[in-house]
Amino acid sequence: MVVSTGSSEREGWSSRSAFILAAVGSAVGLGNMWRFPAEAGENGGGAFVLFYIFCVLLIGLPVLLSEVLIGRHGQASAPESVRRVARDSKAPEGWSVLGSMGVFAAFLILSFYCVVGGWVVYYIGVFLSDLFQTGLSGGAFAGRPAEEIETLLPGLFGNGSLMVGLNLGFLAVTMFFVARGISSGIECVAVYLMPMFFVLFLGITIYGAFTGNFGDAVTYLFTFDFSKLTGEVMLAAVGQAFFSLSLGVAGMMTYGAYASRETNLGETSGIIAGADTAVALIAGLAIFPIVFAAGLSASAGPGLMFQSLPIAFQAMPFGSLIGLLFFTMVFFAALTSSVSLLEAPTAYVFEKFKLSRPVATVIVGVGAAVLGILSALSFNELADFRPLALIPIFSEANFFDALDGVTAKLFMPIGAILTCIFVGWVADAKLIDDENGLDGVLHQVWRALVRFVCPIVLTLILAAGLFPEWFAKAMSELQQGFAVVFG
Ligand code: PFF
Repeated sequence: MVVSTGSSEREGWSSRSAFILAAVGSAVGLGNMWRFPAEAGENGGGAFVLFYIFCVLLIGLPVLLSEVLIGRHGQASAPESVRRVARDSKAPEGWSVLGSMGVFAAFLILSFYCVVGGWVVYYIGVFLSDLFQTGLSGGAFAGRPAEEIETLLPGLFGNGSLMVGLNLGFLAVTMFFVARGISSGIECVAVYLMPMFFVLFLGITIYGAFTGNFGDAVTYLFTFDFSKLTGEVMLAAVGQAFFSLSLGVAGMMTYGAYASRETNLGETSGIIAGADTAVALIAGLAIFPIVFAAGLSASAGPGLMFQSLPIAFQAMPFGSLIGLLFFTMVFFAALTSSVSLLEAPTAYVFEKFKLSRPVATVIVGVGAAVLGILSALSFNELADFRPLALIPIFSEANFFDALDGVTAKLFMPIGAILTCIFVGWVADAKLIDDENGLDGVLHQVWRALVRFVCPIVLTLILAAGLFPEWFAKAMSELQQGFAVVFG
């Protein structure tokens, strides 16, 4: 739909609820269902989860509002929106680099995101064929040993051409919807798939609660052990919060640009962050009971969703059907997110080079396909390639992990720090106040968070994560200092 969104006639969301569904669709994705439980399991459970919630409330939410308001004011692609806010604030227009950095990071994430999207498609196929073989009522993979089910993922990883094919297939579906534009593509996916996602999600969570080990999962996810909160765990938590909320990479700026002037951005940001966090926590509460009930390890990392869960489904009534529904649901969530990852660079390319939307989509898509192939091959042919061997925290990472690590642990926090400085200190306060939809105390709190708390805390977390030894030493000196002062 072409609606007047303020300064110009351009495509926009057809309603506020369409904007909310699309933004929630962007936020809820593989980050919630696959990355969150894996990160929580690898980083010690409760300490990670509670610090994650802290990051969402104190950092993620204020940054989310900052990003959508830049987009809404600018009514353009992310770099151009930042430039317009700078221009209207009489600040240097070079700040648009903030948007360009985000667009580039979104492009990088898109490339490996579609690789994982491809694995989801593979598992849909696996459960579908299993449903035909084993029938409806029994567990999944009847009679096959757990070790064999566990080898499904390494089997897929070992098959370079299948990995590449699935990756390209998932990317092609994403491109199809982005090329169709906002109302008949992106909005359409969100409006149909997100409600279906929520129905399936609720059903599977209730199922997990009744059949799995719910108590153990609650204890695991919400028991806070302060000693486990290292610099690396904190950086992982903040990176996860940004990844999950689609922040620091222009995604939310781009979607904000299609919002109408009537939309209250403060309220909408609260809904988006609330829904995303609820889905992440509930996903943890749905996945860990099933994993614990099957006696499997919480720290299985990225394999948690793809290896441990299928084994757990084996022991369950209607296992094949539940597996099929589960991966279908993850597919819906992943597609609504990959669409937003592609939209950010596409909007930039068609605006900057005055191309049609489909042509811009193809250009960005082909670029993402090339990088995606390298990511897909880093599980097989390129397994020994270490692109960032010189950077200590990424020295062991293959191409796929390097892209994931660099975007979540560098681009996202740095993008967020710059966004806070820009919105809190550089942009005109009146312009910001007119956009943010907050009044009274909430407004004061948000402003204090954006100006002081977020940039300072984020810089500290970034330093702690990048230089873990330095952080550990500083913490132990602090503890000794406390011991001396308080006896
Ligand atoms: N938030 C998405 C997820 O949790 O899977 C990933 C994502 C989408 C990140 C869009 C960044 C973005 F711009």
